[in-house]
Amino acid sequence: MTKSSIISGFYKLSPKERLSIIKDLAGLTDEEVRFLENTGSLPMDVADHMVENVIGVMPEPLGIGVNFQINGKDYLIPMATEEPSVIAAASYAAKMVRDGGGFHTSSTAPIMIGQIQVVNIAHAGYAKTQVLDSKSEILKKANEQDPVLNSFGGGAKDLDARVIETSLGEMLIVHLYVDCRDAMGANAVNTMAEAVSPMIERITGGRVYLRIISNLAVKRMAKAWCTVPKEAVGGEAIVDGVACASAFASADPYRAATHNKGAMNGIIAVVLATGNDHRAIEAGGHAYAAFNGAYTTFSKWTKNKNGDLEGEIELPMAVGLIGGAVKTHPIARIAMKILGVKSANEFAEILAAVGLAQNLAALRALSSEGIQRGHMSLHARNIAITAGAKDELIDRVAERMVRERKVRVDRAKEILDELSKKL
Ligand code: MEV
Repeated sequence: MTKSSIISGFYKLSPKERLSIIKDLAGLTDEEVRFLENTGSLPMDVADHMVENVIGVMPEPLGIGVNFQINGKDYLIPMATEEPSVIAAASYAAKMVRDGGGFHTSSTAPIMIGQIQVVNIAHAGYAKTQVLDSKSEILKKANEQDPVLNSFGGGAKDLDARVIETSLGEMLIVHLYVDCRDAMGANAVNTMAEAVSPMIERITGGRVYLRIISNLAVKRMAKAWCTVPKEAVGGEAIVDGVACASAFASADPYRAATHNKGAMNGIIAVVLATGNDHRAIEAGGHAYAAFNGAYTTFSKWTKNKNGDLEGEIELPMAVGLIGGAVKTHPIARIAMKILGVKSANEFAEILAAVGLAQNLAALRALSSEGIQRGHMSLHARNIAITAGAKDELIDRVAERMVRERKVRVDRAKEILDELSKKL
């Protein structure tokens, strides 16, 4: 019989009660339940208050990206990721960049966009003028929602309106520009967008539907750039290879997606470690990469007149130091302490630098030896663990598989059997 996924009142139960139901439905063993109950440094009651229907936590490895020098200052970069090689690659690239003076960065003010969708308007163009004419009263209403943000110098600073053509006719889209200071800002922006909507309906005579932040945060950009001496990167042929890889990616969306994913490997690892909203960063980055109509890269590498490598990256970076899991998740708080940033802008710039480092490491490997060699030994350790290897046998099984170029669970099991017999 197919099990039903309808569990009435599931959300009202305690994690223990939920776990007991899931144990029965999914046929979990006592040991599996104990694993779920052991939530380590994210206590079950904290997790239970963070999201709904909690039955446990899902830990990820947390490592430190080393060698980073950004604007002349050294940083230790906390990175949470399930992917082998990411932290090692970022650290390796940061070392090469350090030889050229480290990363340099800049960012815009932390302005997020709140969108208000107005429909059923007789003359959208006229409604737009009416909204723009009422700018100061709309901004005043928006700012009444968040006196704390205002007291820190943030708040709704400006607005704009656009008429767009849709499959359901013309719509007026109002953009509220909100300076979110050290918050990511989704709550502040959504609250303001909701609060001004009745006023916008009155002004335009239209009907407001959506009132929500835009993740295409083009007014909250972070930029990083660096020069890597050709000697540090491994010679001029490698400089050419990286520049060539970059040209390929900027001309081809199939490659651009993977190129950008490589940069995101680093950015998202830090965003995850610090409890920020990584989906917002992914959505913003990729939408920005397609902002001019064709999807391309948000980073670029070229060879300069000395034959050295120059790289830059620029993308929306909606991250905060306060709010959400940043403060509630104990590990996120510790990660922030390790990082030691003082503002959301400083944090955003570090993320851009990490993305650039990660991108450099990937392109360097891809345009020379290929990534499989580096990846394989780490991947092989995971396969060895999957096959049941423990302690020193993990490395021994992994090394054999890499040497034989057969990194597969079936081969890992054979090697493990053989080595275990000899113990
Ligand atoms: C793998 O996670 C990331 C890369 O594919 C990035 C790239 O191709 O640039 C290696």
